[in-house]
Amino acid sequence: MLEVSNLHKSFGGLVAVKSLSFNVPDDSILGLIGVNGSGKTTVMNCINGIYHASGGSIRFKSEEVIGRRAHEVTRLGIGRTFQVPRLFRRLTLVENLLVPVLGASGRTSTLVAQAEALLAEVDLYRLRDNYAEELSGGQQKLVELLRVMMLDPTLILLDEPFAGVHPNLCRVFIDQIMKLKQRGKSFILVSHDMTSVYRLSDHILVLNQGETIAEGDAAAIQNNPAVVEAFLGR
Ligand SMILES: Nc1ncnc2c1ncn2[C@@H]1O[C@H](COP(=O)(O)OP(=O)(O)O)[C@@H](O)[C@H]1O
Ligand SMILES: [Mg+2]
Repeated sequence: MLEVSNLHKSFGGLVAVKSLSFNVPDDSILGLIGVNGSGKTTVMNCINGIYHASGGSIRFKSEEVIGRRAHEVTRLGIGRTFQVPRLFRRLTLVENLLVPVLGASGRTSTLVAQAEALLAEVDLYRLRDNYAEELSGGQQKLVELLRVMMLDPTLILLDEPFAGVHPNLCRVFIDQIMKLKQRGKSFILVSHDMTSVYRLSDHILVLNQGETIAEGDAAAIQNNPAVVEAFLGR
């Protein structure tokens, strides 16, 4: 589904991502881990067009993504959520979910029903007419995922979805990710919550200073001395 090869991103003299290559196959979850500043968010920003990559190639279903703007990448079928959720605070949950489909051809009543069905799936239907600012941070992150789902993307980039989220809500989040995967969605999951990353990911990539230092399944990563050193020191 996604083929990243020799991706490079620098900010002046700072090289944030160095000749990084990886694939995301159909129906799969790629876990992307690494200490703060290792380049995880930058990779996501390059994929969805917020940053213009300095070099390399990012192919989504064989189409080159580099050079396209964020809304064009979204239209190709890549959705993403943010480390700090970016909802419209003074819009209701349903209104927030309708934002991506403003101007879409569907009937408003159909779109509202679609938004309400998504909210019901994660038990937020009862809050559909509340302002987004009334939600907890974790609920806002969940609503951000639902907002992405309104456009029915095939690849979803999740940046730290579990950080600061109540454990009960994390469980809802994880169930939702697994459900969406069964429905044919793929994910890139950036998280410091190792238990969730190990549980959800088909393949894990460990970044350090913009480079892959290890990759493999959960068992391989857990026992890799280079990974332990990068996270805990020698
Ligand atoms: N817009 C930017 N301008 C300058 N430096 C940036 C910018 N975005 C990220 N960086 C730098 O790139 C490196 C990787 O950052 P980031 O991708 O946010 O790491 P992570 O998400 O793994 O914590 C860091 O050194 C960070 O300071
Ligand atoms: Mg980050």
